[in-house]
Amino acid sequence: MKLSLISSGKALGQREIHNEHFVSYLDTTDQWIRERSGISTRRWVDDESTVDLAFAASEECLSRLPDFDRSKIKVVICATVTPDEVVPAISAQLQDLLGLDTDILAFDINAACSGLVYALEIARNLLRVRPAGTAALVLGAEMLSRKTDMQDRGSCFLFGDGAGASLWTLHEGEDDYFSAKTVGDTEMLTVGLNEPIRMDGRAVFRFAVSKMSDCIRDVLEKADLAPDEVDYYLLHQANQRINDAIMRDLKLTGERFPSNIARVGNTSSASIGILMEELYRSGQLDGSKTICLAGFGGGMSCGALLMKGHEIHVVG
Ligand code: ACO
Repeated sequence: MKLSLISSGKALGQREIHNEHFVSYLDTTDQWIRERSGISTRRWVDDESTVDLAFAASEECLSRLPDFDRSKIKVVICATVTPDEVVPAISAQLQDLLGLDTDILAFDINAACSGLVYALEIARNLLRVRPAGTAALVLGAEMLSRKTDMQDRGSCFLFGDGAGASLWTLHEGEDDYFSAKTVGDTEMLTVGLNEPIRMDGRAVFRFAVSKMSDCIRDVLEKADLAPDEVDYYLLHQANQRINDAIMRDLKLTGERFPSNIARVGNTSSASIGILMEELYRSGQLDGSKTICLAGFGGGMSCGALLMKGHEIHVVG
């Protein structure tokens, strides 16, 4: 059985922050930020909360299918490292906000920027043991501006706020392929309970390129596919140079690597969901597409999920 997308939605912080914002108070330039990261603007929240972003993305996802019966949703998983509070979970709050049934499994996970890929793998396995036609709402929601040290010129320009939500069911077909790697590390990338994001940018960069490549190659091998048999690689939008390095490693070109980092920045576990919404909305996921989702993040964690011949199924 394979995952099938039913719908998708996204929400971004209300304020658009240009690189010039950082130039105004730090020793940096717009050109340096664009060349080192690929980022020109990012969106930060104004007075919204992480739950507000999660709700807006989920409601957009569900309202795109007005005839969809919300009682089919039995699983809600939100990936986040920036919840508004520890309890209640964002996904639990969504039950009420979205008017979902109460006999659902709803929980949040923290796998840093790998979160959405891990959440989808969990949803896939939960759907396997539930009745046909059951749906799972899977989202990433982050407010990283709240956890950014705005004086750290090596990282403050990277992050944005947003949420990406997607609705899934299982269909007949070849199983999806998953690969994960975890390398326990407390130095490379941390976000303390009351401390901002701290990272060794160069070390994170090296980890991302080497381990994300490993995970992608692993799922390709399991699926018996060559790199150019994948239509789209939806990679975590952390730094354009990281994704360009993966692309070169796979000996591919840019059309298979959709990117929105220039205008959205790094939204951690929300980034792949936001990118997926943009592809879904533009019709690029229609038909039988082979897609590979891959992310890396704190932990250190890394994961890839390959959906061979993926098709969207609209269900009422
Ligand atoms: N403007 C101008 N110069 C700068 C800036 C800046 N904002 N920041 C650093 N520099 C300087 C440094 O001082 C250094 O100068 P030196 O050569 O004289 O010592 C030089 O630029 C190079 O610095 P590096 O840190 O080596 O720059 P690098 O090319 O590695 O780019 C970056 C930094 C963009 C952070 C990169 O390392 C990166 O993207 N790493 C991965 C980050 C990432 O993906 N993080 C995941 C976050 S996940 C999460 O948040 C949960």
